[in-house]
Amino acid sequence: MSDHKNDESSSTGSVPLHGLLAEYETPWQLVDASKKVRDARYQRWDTFTPFPVHGIDRAMGIRMTILPWIVLVAGLTGLASAILLQWWTNSFDYPWIVSGKPLFSIPANVPIMFEMTVLFSGITTLVGMLMLNGLPHPSHPLDLKERFARATDDRFFLLIEASDPKFDAKQTRALLETTGAAVLDEVLEDRVTSDRLPKIVTYGMIILTTAAMIPLALAAKARYTKSRDPRIHLIGDMDWQPKYKAQRQNPVFDDTRAQREPVAGTIAVGDLREDDHYFRGKVDDEFARTFPFQLPLTQQTVERGQERYGIYCAPCHGLLGDGRGMVTQRAESLIDSGRGRGMAWVEPTNVNQAHIAAQPVGQLFDTITNGIRTMPAYGPQIPTEDRWAIVMYVRALQKKNGAAAAPAPAPTPAPAPPTQTPEPGSNAP
Ligand code: HEC
Repeated sequence: MSDHKNDESSSTGSVPLHGLLAEYETPWQLVDASKKVRDARYQRWDTFTPFPVHGIDRAMGIRMTILPWIVLVAGLTGLASAILLQWWTNSFDYPWIVSGKPLFSIPANVPIMFEMTVLFSGITTLVGMLMLNGLPHPSHPLDLKERFARATDDRFFLLIEASDPKFDAKQTRALLETTGAAVLDEVLEDRVTSDRLPKIVTYGMIILTTAAMIPLALAAKARYTKSRDPRIHLIGDMDWQPKYKAQRQNPVFDDTRAQREPVAGTIAVGDLREDDHYFRGKVDDEFARTFPFQLPLTQQTVERGQERYGIYCAPCHGLLGDGRGMVTQRAESLIDSGRGRGMAWVEPTNVNQAHIAAQPVGQLFDTITNGIRTMPAYGPQIPTEDRWAIVMYVRALQKKNGAAAAPAPAPTPAPAPPTQTPEPGSNAP
């Protein structure tokens, strides 16, 4: 803005007047002038000084900004939202007791309350300050006044805007003349600086705005699609290997099936279960009356059976085998309190009853393996050897509880004579 026409011209011409600018050499001149302008009840005017001038605020009659009140309201809003958010998520929408703590309590929620209060206040302070000041304001008519640059150096300025309701070209000039201004100057509206944003800024903002929506779009997509893949898959291990999956096509074979039938008669390693006695508890299609030879008739076996019984059977049948396990007790308390309405409850059998004690060991083994009526099968969970150990322990239980077992195929739970390689069928006592 070197030697612009507006600079020293005093004729308004077609360019409207922005205001009257008075220039002073000392701060006290400015303060005195400010008092006069203030007392003349001008509203739209300002002073410009190279450094903070004491008393200028009072001289100008500047009142306190309402920003603190706005910030107070914003801070309280933040506080309230924090309380509401935590109360709603923790004790209303998804109440979940953690370590026996109350669903809602003030101390636990203080950190978020503090953070939200500070966040809301902080943002409001900045945005409110900018808005109350009418910022950002990229250009100003004073920018075109070359002498005005001295406002940052050694001169003191006072500008009364033409938009002030009291502004009158002659009277205002007369008022300023009485203040002993060194120079009195008209400031014209800025018709030089383009009021359009530079292209690069516009495009930059479009690009940035678009880019800022990408994460949102990704998040939205993630919410509505399902994937089994990890989001970030740095180490592939063997996750991508060339292979055919079941039910896919494989052109190598005539029938194009990827999944092939096993060769007739093949059995997977470890799946051969030929021994009916050991694996199915049967001898000649009848329930076996003896323990299979694979089972060592030792105290360890009974103890193992006791342990496994405690894990798998006692919850329902009770440690004594009388059917009074925790599951039973719970079911009864539900029924007694009326909460078990509509519940089909079958009490676990007391395994010490005579008719159970009379069952061949093979039948007990079968009950455990395949379940019976409402009792589920435990074959898939308990290895064969452990199932036999449990049977042995159940026999011991029955004996201890005096169940009349006749014939009694149960081995004595007392330390059994070491039987290293017993013959099949030789286990019956
Ligand atoms: C989930 C509870 C539950 C568990 C665990 C359970 N049972 Fe049972 N059991 C039952 C119920 C219920 C019955 C009665 C089934 C019926 O009569 O419908 C029953 C019946 C039996 C019977 C009687 C079978 C018959 O011939 O009448 C035996 C023996 C038995 N269970 C043994 C066992 C053993 C051994 C285990 C541990 C491996 C076991 N149960 C685990 C619930 C259970």
